Amino acid sequence: EDFIRKGLPLLGRKVLVTAGPTYEAIDPVRFIGNHSSGKMGFAIADEFARLGAEVVLITGPTAEKSSHTLKRIDIVSAAQMLDACRQEFENADITVMSAAVADYTPVTTAAQKIKKTTEEFSLELKKTTDILASLGSLKRADQILVGFALETENEEAHAQAKLTRKNLDLIVLNSLNDKGAGFKMNTNKITIFNRSFEKTVFETKSKTAVAKDICNEILKLL
Ligand code: CTP
Ligand code: CA
Repeated sequence: EDFIRKGLPLLGRKVLVTAGPTYEAIDPVRFIGNHSSGKMGFAIADEFARLGAEVVLITGPTAEKSSHTLKRIDIVSAAQMLDACRQEFENADITVMSAAVADYTPVTTAAQKIKKTTEEFSLELKKTTDILASLGSLKRADQILVGFALETENEEAHAQAKLTRKNLDLIVLNSLNDKGAGFKMNTNKITIFNRSFEKTVFETKSKTAVAKDICNEILKLL
């Protein structure tokens, strides 16, 4: 109770956060990636650490640095993020999956640099494992699992469908149609849905402030 008064409501709790993009190798010099900066995930990890939690941060390639003490695991590909998440998930009381995981990865990675021989060139891709859905199927009653949804149309319906399909407790909707939301920006605009599909709409804020809002919503579930 002392700790709660001191503002450390998550002391003794373990939190897993993922952040950043994944890079899927095409050959030794090229990859398929995305514009995720990692800022949102790092802000969430830092906020949880500030609240007293023991934080594990699994991150793809990013220039971000954490300002708190946490266990950081650097990975590159979606497959590596899946392995790391599967290792860390069972010990986590709370998991927030904010990474922008590649949906597709090359069927094969060329051992040597691909030469520009042909006029047309196509790459064969296969689906990656949905990490969040796989954690959702492993989730115990004492665990909280939070995902993100990045949408450009029918945002709310898509977000709610992901919440159900992946067995989440909360989903954070990011619409690319909102001004003030986006990959490289320092601000974000979110809407959070719970399992009863109640929605909470937040104003455009700094990613640090958005991280506080997300953590607050999670604290309400404890
Ligand atoms: N996610 C994941 N593993 C993947 C793809 C996505 O864990 N291979 C997670 C993301 O970290 C995010 C959530 O799933 O928390 C939603 O990601 P999003 O791209 O919005 O949805 P998808 O399920 O990938 O569906 P789509 O891209 O077709 O909208
Ligand atoms: Ca996706």
